Amino acid sequence: MNEIYISSRPCLVICIVLIALLVPICDAKKCAFEAIFNFGDSNSDTGGFWAAFPAERPPYGMTYFKRPSGRATDGRVIIDFLAQGLGQPFVSPYLQSIGSDYRHGANFATLASTVRLPNTSLFVTGVSPFSLAIQLNQMKQFKVRVDELHSSGKTNLPPPEIFGKSLYTFYIGQNDFTGNLAYIGISGVKQYLPQVVSQIASTIKEIYALGGRTFLVLNLAPIGCYPAFLVELPHGNSDIDSFGCMISYNNAVVEYNDMLKEAMEQTRKNIPNANVIYVDIHTVMLELFQHPTAHGLKYGTKACCGEGGGAYNFNPKVFCGNSKIINGQTLNATACSDPYNYVSWDGIHATEAANKLVAYAILNGSYSHPAFSLYKYCDIQPFT
Ligand SMILES: *[C@@H]1O[C@H](CO)[C@@H](O)[C@H](O)[C@H]1NC(C)=O
Ligand SMILES: *[C@@H]1O[C@H](CO)[C@@H](O)[C@H](O)[C@H]1NC(C)=O
Ligand SMILES: *[C@@H]1O[C@H](CO)[C@@H](O)[C@H](O)[C@H]1NC(C)=O
Repeated sequence: MNEIYISSRPCLVICIVLIALLVPICDAKKCAFEAIFNFGDSNSDTGGFWAAFPAERPPYGMTYFKRPSGRATDGRVIIDFLAQGLGQPFVSPYLQSIGSDYRHGANFATLASTVRLPNTSLFVTGVSPFSLAIQLNQMKQFKVRVDELHSSGKTNLPPPEIFGKSLYTFYIGQNDFTGNLAYIGISGVKQYLPQVVSQIASTIKEIYALGGRTFLVLNLAPIGCYPAFLVELPHGNSDIDSFGCMISYNNAVVEYNDMLKEAMEQTRKNIPNANVIYVDIHTVMLELFQHPTAHGLKYGTKACCGEGGGAYNFNPKVFCGNSKIINGQTLNATACSDPYNYVSWDGIHATEAANKLVAYAILNGSYSHPAFSLYKYCDIQPFT
């Protein structure tokens, strides 16, 4: 049950034996996974959306890259930390034609992506055209091109054997969940959540057919604690729990996550010799929102970058990095000076500080079902 199914294992075992014999032949920084292929939305986009539609502004990127880097946060996203932990470069966005290097994988995630096909008549808020089915097509095209070009030698692509030695990560579904929530409510959204879950499962099966063997599926974070949704979604005072989060929306997320976990258990039975790992980042994020000070942070449900101050520092009319004249006054949504003290960067997306804590939890496997510690398969590199 708990074994790992990758073809490079014999090499790894030999390497470990050689290290044990103190023969300095193998590189000590070994990892059973040589690449990461990621599917997702803004929570894991490393520049795809903004490569397609250039317009990102400061203060995005202020903490780590010191400039807008195409990520919807002040610094690194979760998969950046996973890549660093595995000793690999940041994963290049599939849509980024300049400066990309795909030898260690590709990132298909784009801001505002959904699992389901975007229905423009229903989605009043903006959505990305790059929904999960498109991201899967891009993955298939990526493999076709790798297979075609590998003999030519001069590529920034991985070898064709890479697909069995890669980590496939999924962090998507949040926009399906929240995109229509203000218009059709929790009961409306629940109608199609089974469809979201089954599409994630079928995508995993398709990638398995391409050779993929290890899948990490991140569940949804407690959006009822997000400053933006606390401001935007209808709720009464009695719906707020002792941590300042909305009970009804958080309960609905838990229900979705249970369904996702169940679907992953089923998927595991359907595809032999594969690791299908459900990663409960929800528990990690909820803990950060509820007890920020226990983890070196200060603020849970208040955004770092926003307008208006107050409990949430979020104004739906002026997003982070923007200014708007409202009633003759120029309102500016600017960043706090200490993003490392916040869970929420801009009301929706987590800060680099929170992403790092979630990444540690993913790497050490304590929130994975079945248990799955990446320390067992890779010489995990420290990151700061
Ligand atoms: C999109 O949403 C509208 C409004 O609910 C619905 O009438 C229509 O059938 C949907 N279209 C698709 C392609 O799902
Ligand atoms: C927003 O920024 C503009 C330009 O820097 C400034 O004139 C204005 O006073 C600021 N608005 C507020 C509410 O601080
Ligand atoms: C894994 O991470 C959790 C949360 O950060 C921590 O409590 C736990 O001690 C870690 N376990 C290991 C083996 O590093």
